[in-house]
Amino acid sequence: MQPTDLLAAKAAPNAGTGRAHGKAILLGEHAVVYGAPALVIPIPQLTATATATRRPDADGITFAMTGSAGVTPLATDGLQHLVAEFRRLAGLSGPLGLDVLVRSAIPQGRGLGSSAACARAAVLAIADAYGHRLDAGEVYDLVQSSERVAHGRASGIDAVATGATSALVFRSGVAHELPSEHPDAAFVIADSGVGGSTKEAVELLAGRFERVAGTREKFVTAVTELTTAALRDLAADEWDGFGGRLTANHRLLQEIGVSTEQIDALVEAALKAGGLGAKITGGGLGGCMIALAGTATGAAAIRRALHETGAVRTWVVPMRRSARHG
Ligand code: MEV
Repeated sequence: MQPTDLLAAKAAPNAGTGRAHGKAILLGEHAVVYGAPALVIPIPQLTATATATRRPDADGITFAMTGSAGVTPLATDGLQHLVAEFRRLAGLSGPLGLDVLVRSAIPQGRGLGSSAACARAAVLAIADAYGHRLDAGEVYDLVQSSERVAHGRASGIDAVATGATSALVFRSGVAHELPSEHPDAAFVIADSGVGGSTKEAVELLAGRFERVAGTREKFVTAVTELTTAALRDLAADEWDGFGGRLTANHRLLQEIGVSTEQIDALVEAALKAGGLGAKITGGGLGGCMIALAGTATGAAAIRRALHETGAVRTWVVPMRRSARHG
C-alpha cells in the first residue's frame, strides 16, 4: 500500500486517524518549566495527521513518517512509551500489532511542537483504531508521557497547545483560553534554518541555574512579571504594550543564552520593519522567532524583511480562533 493510501485508510475497519497542529510560544518558554505562566498560540496551518492500522496477526508497533523524503522511521522511545501507557489505560492485553504512519507539515527541531503534535496525532489515531474514546485529560497525560521521555523536563505546554483551538495561558499543567482576538493583528513566525534541540536547551539552563545561585529565581520572576503584564495588555487591547513584552522577553532569553546570532538578526529585522514586538519562540539554540504585526500590511512587510535577513520559511497566524479538529 502506498503511504498516501494508508493515510486515506480511514474507511478500513481496522484503521484510525488523528490530527494535531503546531504551536508557537508568545511568552514564557523555559520559565514555564519552573512554574511561570506562559502564553501560546496554535498554528493551525501546520498540521500533523496520523493513521494507525491494526495488524491482528502481528505483535509489535512500527512508527513511520511520510513526506517529501519518502517513508522514514520515526524516533520511537517516547511513542513506544505512549503506546504502553495507552494499553494500560484501555485495558488491552496480549499481542498488539500496529502500524502508525504520520504525515507532518511541522518542521522538526524548530520549537514549533513537532514531537508533541506527532504524539497527539498518533495516540488519537491509535485510540480511534481500537474504538476507544479518550477524554482531553487522558490525551494530555498520554502525550506528556511521550514528551517526558523525548524531552526530559517537559512543562506540558506543547502537549496542550498542539490540540488547542485558541491562544492559551498555561501554568503548571493548567490551561485557560485567552479571550483576546484582534481583527487585524497577526503573528509572523520565521524559521532561522538552523535546528535547535529543546532537550539540550532545557538541560543547558538547568545546569546554568544549578551553578549560579539565584539565576533561576531572577529569570522566573522577571518572566512571570512580563507575562502577567502582557495579560493585562491583552485585556485592555493594548497591542503596542503587548508587543513590547515580547521583545523584553527576548532580551531575557538572550541574556540566559538560548538565542543565536541568526535569531537575534531576525528579531532586529522584524522590529525595524515595524513589528510591535519580536522574540525567539520555543526552546531556542536555533529554531524559530515570532513577531507581532498590528495589520495585515505590516505582517507582509515583516515577512519580506525576515526573508531578506535569511529566514528560510515564514508563516502568518492571525490573532483569531482557529478551526476545531480531533
Ligand atoms: C518548548 O516548546 C518550551 C520549553 O519551555 C520546554 C517546555 O516547556 O516543555 C522550552
